[in-house]
Amino acid sequence: MSTAVAQPNFALIKYWGKVDEDLIIPATGSLSLTLDIYPTTTTVEVIADQPFDTATLDGVSLNTTELSRIETVLEYVRAISGRIDRAVITSTNSVPTAAGLASSASGFAALAVAASSAYGLEADSTLLSRIARRGSGSACRSIFDGLVRWNAGTTDETSHAEQLEWTGDELAMIIVVVSAGRKQISSREAMRLTAETSPYYQAWVESNNQLLLQASEAVQAGDFSTLGQLTELSTMRMHASMLAADPAIRYLAGRSVDLFDQVQRLRADGLECFATADAGPNVKILCRSRDASQVATQIQNTMPDLTVMTAHSGQGARLVEQATR
Ligand code: PMV
Repeated sequence: MSTAVAQPNFALIKYWGKVDEDLIIPATGSLSLTLDIYPTTTTVEVIADQPFDTATLDGVSLNTTELSRIETVLEYVRAISGRIDRAVITSTNSVPTAAGLASSASGFAALAVAASSAYGLEADSTLLSRIARRGSGSACRSIFDGLVRWNAGTTDETSHAEQLEWTGDELAMIIVVVSAGRKQISSREAMRLTAETSPYYQAWVESNNQLLLQASEAVQAGDFSTLGQLTELSTMRMHASMLAADPAIRYLAGRSVDLFDQVQRLRADGLECFATADAGPNVKILCRSRDASQVATQIQNTMPDLTVMTAHSGQGARLVEQATR
């Protein structure tokens, strides 16, 4: 029985669209920050003679669709480890599930680490990243600490994340919860629809590859300002590509847009921060750790009814307990 903990990551340079849906090979690379809040804790217990895998999330049994993604990860781990026994998965999430707060990233990163250990697999972090990727693309980045780049690759072996060295100021993210409800359309469906119907999709792929190169250089140079500007650019271009899908996919709510305006005003007033949003209405604001409380206070003052959380750069997925029984 093995238990692992992982935290979400939020993309600065986004992942949106796959070239291989089964293997989850993305159309472009991406770059993210792993956070120090909202951990998912997952226990995997391998049980002989059990006919199928079972899983609960926060005490509730998962339905067939939810379980099928977990099965994909478990089947992969079993194939590599040469085992056939089924498992019982118990997971607890401290982040609102499916609200664009990256619960699938922390969930599948924790599952990859716990399952590999429970099945006795000696997996290095590259393999763990590949295993996590099979559950949810962005999960491959939560294996690592801090700033992480997912190199798109072209095959199962070459598509995985790696940790980047950052010598700039310590990073923080202010998370503004516009809505904690479930999103209207899953990122998986929305990516497919964008790739199939948006006339801007190819342009998105080409420009995001460029942004990733520039962002990688900014990371290497420890250049926060450039990294922040590129973060907003990648966010806007991703949302633009899906707004042009048919039917249009619009995750941003009116309050999300107000928050982007507010962040722009804070910047104009000399407080350097940059907004981003994913497959949901919540907005995350990238800033220097030393400015985090000021940014959070300013945002909370203008929108007192919204929940504002502060996160800093955090640790990648890790094993917290391992017991043989
Ligand atoms: O891994 P998924 O299917 O949850 O997709 C995540 C996509 C975005 O969050 C919108 C962008 C990203 O790179 O995390």
